[in-house]
Amino acid sequence: MQITGSSAIVVGGTGGLGEATVRRLHAAGAQVVVADVNDEKGKELASELGIRYVHTDATSEESVNAAIAEAQSLAPLRISVDTHGGPATGGRLVGKDGAPLALEGFRTTVEFYLTAVFNVLRLSAAAIAKSEPLEEGARGVIVNTASIAGYEGQIGQLPYSAAKGGVIGMTLVAARDLSPLGIRVVTIAPGTVNTPAYGKSADQLEKYWGPQIPFPKRMGRSTEYAQLAQSIIENDYLNGEIIRLDGALRFPPK
Ligand SMILES: NC(=O)c1ccc[n+]([C@@H]2O[C@H](COP(=O)([O-])OP(=O)(O)OC[C@H]3O[C@@H](n4cnc5c(N)ncnc54)[C@H](O)[C@@H]3O)[C@@H](O)[C@H]2O)c1
Repeated sequence: MQITGSSAIVVGGTGGLGEATVRRLHAAGAQVVVADVNDEKGKELASELGIRYVHTDATSEESVNAAIAEAQSLAPLRISVDTHGGPATGGRLVGKDGAPLALEGFRTTVEFYLTAVFNVLRLSAAAIAKSEPLEEGARGVIVNTASIAGYEGQIGQLPYSAAKGGVIGMTLVAARDLSPLGIRVVTIAPGTVNTPAYGKSADQLEKYWGPQIPFPKRMGRSTEYAQLAQSIIENDYLNGEIIRLDGALRFPPK
């Protein structure tokens, strides 16, 4: 699908993967709306690129719809990329003290990392469905972000792994559901990507993960995620698939 002439929302658009995607889609000619809760960074990025920022909480229907409406005011919405992220609770299923992992932490992690992805997916799909079909009936593309932890979660990561596994599980059925509308759904499952999410520990993590990654021997780059997102959008035959972006890394148990 051609990117020029379409609008796009990037949820979590000021984060590591999100910002790189915003920049890439903007450079490719999309009318991009940065949708995030980080107003300071969002406004800064939008003003640098001359694009729009909308305060957007991925967990809220009203909020996501406001970002969608902003995008639709610029051009038909055909692209939705969700890269939102934040802290996830974890811990061993049964702690050293014998206590079971807290139910509340599981619920909030699933709410943030799975239910909110579903929220963005469903609202984006309904909005893209209103755009006029292009060649072969194509209306648009939705890109979700999972993690390789959705396949091989590490010790202490159960809630996050369960949520990401849910995103993986939604992908094919969403693509099937949306096929009559000409909307594709693809999920990217990154391995370890060096983003601001890691804060001050980024250098240490690079030293820790680098040697463990078969090739290239380094963490991934946000620009590599953005490059894949653009390829997914442009390649009409990619649909219902989860693409690992991990340098052949398979997470060990810990
Ligand atoms: N970086 C990695 O190594 C890696 C690996 C696998 C998967 N992922 C996944 O990729 C996604 C992005 O990761 P990142 O490294 O870019 O993180 P990041 O922390 O750099 O970016 C996340 C962005 O989401 C925004 N955000 C937080 N709460 C939000 C909300 N309620 N609604 C909308 N936006 C919200 C933050 O403000 C931030 O800009 C996450 O889902 C993460 O689980 C990252």
